[in-house]
Amino acid sequence: MRGGGDSGVAHPRRVDLGLVSASCRKAAAAAASRGPPARVSTTTTNQGAGSRQRTARAARSRATSPRRAAGARTVTPHFVSAPPLNASHQSSDRLSQGRQTHRSAARCHPPSPPHLPLAAAPCKLTPPAMAARSGTMRAVQYDRYGGGAQGLKHAEVPIPSPNKGEVLIRMEATSINQVDWKFQKGVARPVMPRKFPFISGFDLAGEVVEVGAGVSDFKPGDKVIAINFPNGGGLAEYAVASASLTVPRPPEVSAAQGACLPIAAVTALRSLQRAGVSLDPDGTAAGRKNVLVTAASGGVGHFAVQLARLGGHRVTATCGARNLGLVVDQLGADEALDYGTPEGAGLRSPSGRKYDAVVHCAAAAGVPWSAFRRVLADAGTVVDITPGFAAGATAILQMVTFSKKRLVPLLVTPRKDEMELLVGMVKEGRLTAVIDSRYPLSRAQEGWARSMSGHATGKVVVEMGGEE
Ligand SMILES: NC(=O)c1ccc[n+]([C@@H]2O[C@H](COP(=O)([O-])OP(=O)(O)OC[C@H]3O[C@@H](n4cnc5c(N)ncnc54)[C@H](OP(=O)(O)O)[C@@H]3O)[C@@H](O)[C@H]2O)c1
Repeated sequence: MRGGGDSGVAHPRRVDLGLVSASCRKAAAAAASRGPPARVSTTTTNQGAGSRQRTARAARSRATSPRRAAGARTVTPHFVSAPPLNASHQSSDRLSQGRQTHRSAARCHPPSPPHLPLAAAPCKLTPPAMAARSGTMRAVQYDRYGGGAQGLKHAEVPIPSPNKGEVLIRMEATSINQVDWKFQKGVARPVMPRKFPFISGFDLAGEVVEVGAGVSDFKPGDKVIAINFPNGGGLAEYAVASASLTVPRPPEVSAAQGACLPIAAVTALRSLQRAGVSLDPDGTAAGRKNVLVTAASGGVGHFAVQLARLGGHRVTATCGARNLGLVVDQLGADEALDYGTPEGAGLRSPSGRKYDAVVHCAAAAGVPWSAFRRVLADAGTVVDITPGFAAGATAILQMVTFSKKRLVPLLVTPRKDEMELLVGMVKEGRLTAVIDSRYPLSRAQEGWARSMSGHATGKVVVEMGGEE
């Protein structure tokens, strides 16, 4: 991902108080009970009176909100790959129903149970566990490169204030993307994160509680999703985002579903577009493309499969053996290859067809261009969303040699219109986020570790507003 229009620093006044100890919590509660909002004293903030009022308002609003707690749930699909070949098929109800028609696949498995839910069950609701904390919020942050999940720290930090053109969102959910922990690993060192401590979480879903100057599209109470890349801030009870990268979230789209969309679904959409795969097919066989999606069970890949199928294209997908059924039966791929088999590693379609377009999401696969070239149609395009140096060099070479087969390295810059399109698809039931697992903010480290494992099926979601 590449940064969008929001270049402001998300939490300029954030203060790292370290792990919130029992005594600290007690002190905060005592301060709250003494009366009007008083902020935790160990800050170095420069908030003025207006800002204090805003944070106090937000804290009051927060105190009245329902809170949800979550137990981690994991979807463990264990069923058959059964590709339908029905280009006109639309997925409004496909995603909640088992497939009846079965065609070839690279590996056979026992039949899938019907009506397997794609998303893990909602978290259990529990009463609010936190007293109102005047002007502060819980956040999960890291203060140095490296450390993985263990490097995340729970802290009590000031609630950010929205600057001009920004909205303050009371967070309901965020999703963890690979870029979250890759930044922590230092892949963009020293540019990202811009400063420590850093609250990660780029996908935001929640409710607007305050708007900055010049924002007329949103008002307090609006349910929204937003992207705040690369400033993050989502692993917290409140986060700011640019209004220009915030979109309304209709009641049909849950916070968890919405939080899955900004980075992963936008990347899937853009990848298909860059590969020349239209989501608005003309309905002719000529407009239909053969599309390969690698790592189709992942956060980006599972959206790419669904979107390509919505466009009426023929989709081959690669994934692990355990996800063959999910990818075919529920995401709608026409055929699936187990990447652990020679056939899967070779990326060859069992049908023998060559691919017009490839969305390459398998990060660690290290697939050389020669492997793609063998399976590409004459003017086929590979969009590589995990491009390394070799991919860049290949792309340049192809450009100067006017190669018809192309490798396109892609770093996505988020756009509002794409998020609106995707939210609309979810609202209409045509697109669904597969949720691998859900965690309350207090257990965000587990979600982080799950994402780092590289074996999530769909998206890893962290939800705010509750404590177990
Ligand atoms: N360019 C951009 O702007 C952009 C935007 C978003 C993401 N990305 C990058 O895109 C990549 C994918 O992201 P993601 O969020 O989709 O990852 P993810 O959700 O973590 O992917 C995990 C999934 O990939 C599967 N997988 C792993 N290796 C595979 C292989 N060799 N072949 C087929 N499937 C494989 C895993 O299956 P098993 O568990 O069965 O192994 C698992 O289900 C990451 O490198 C990410 O950084 C780039």
